[in-house]
Amino acid sequence: MTDRIDEMIETAAAMVSSGRGVLAIDESTGTCQKRFDTIGVDCTEDNRRDYRHMLLSADGLGEYISGAILFDETIRQKAPDGTSLVKIMQDADIIPGIKVDKGAKDLAGFPGEKVTEGLDGLRERLHEYYDMGARFAKWRAVITISENNPSQTCIEANSHALARYAALCQEAGLVPIVEPEVLMDGSHDIATAYEVTELTLKSLFSQLYEHNVILEACILKSSMVVSGSDCPEQADAEEVAEATLSCFFNTVPAALAGIVFLSGGQSEIEATEHLNVMNQMGQLPWPLSFSYGRALQASALKVWGDNPKNNVKAAQAELLHRARMNSLATLGQYDE
Ligand code: 13P
Repeated sequence: MTDRIDEMIETAAAMVSSGRGVLAIDESTGTCQKRFDTIGVDCTEDNRRDYRHMLLSADGLGEYISGAILFDETIRQKAPDGTSLVKIMQDADIIPGIKVDKGAKDLAGFPGEKVTEGLDGLRERLHEYYDMGARFAKWRAVITISENNPSQTCIEANSHALARYAALCQEAGLVPIVEPEVLMDGSHDIATAYEVTELTLKSLFSQLYEHNVILEACILKSSMVVSGSDCPEQADAEEVAEATLSCFFNTVPAALAGIVFLSGGQSEIEATEHLNVMNQMGQLPWPLSFSYGRALQASALKVWGDNPKNNVKAAQAELLHRARMNSLATLGQYDE
């Protein structure tokens, strides 16, 4: 177990090592279908494989990307020449990670709220993923803001599940990414987003403590504190950065290995700018990096979709560009 703890602490540090962040390509088949619909590509198993193989084999990606989160289907897939995608990642110095939750389901008794499922059988699945080469995992909880929500029950049910998942991960030698996403959807202002994110993170870290989760071997994947997408008054980058950091200072223990952000509907440029401003605000107790899905893939997906056979290099160039910009933002050196 001690060996595994040392290995997990090393993995967690590598995931947020200087100038690098995590690529999220763990979209479920349903979400992948939605993304492929926007580019007019059939969402077949082969097309999903070709698309993700294209992303993972971008030359030099490992310079900016420390790890990538895969979906169960993807961790089992091979490139057309028979090399497994996991091997391609390992050769590129990109740590394989795996999404292990089974999705956010309606929370009974609480209309409009969700609780993430997937704990049953998780121990066995985690051991299998470790043997397949995964060294970290992800579980996403969803917190929705509306007139009367979130309820404390929703926050607590999700924090409890996240902590049980995180403890099981560490037992299996996998670094848990704990992801409580406070959705941007809605007309709420940034002060409300702050309040809800603060409540959520307080509950999460209290549960991680109750479940003996080792924070040095754990990564928080957080939403930023932003105005609701339909709020008439949109906070600027400075306000987002100040609110987000202030929220973390009040809730996140310094022992945590690192914090990475999801993009959650922000544009590619916004997500990079916000991260950059935060990293310009001086010394922080934790490395602050990215684990974007859409904000790393949007341009690459579009270019690839225009001609999947011929646009591989052009799509890879788009991904590499965004990865490099976000790498600079982790150092507070993005300037575009
Ligand atoms: P987005 O950056 O597109 O929000 O995706 C990140 C992610 O992994 C959500 O779970």
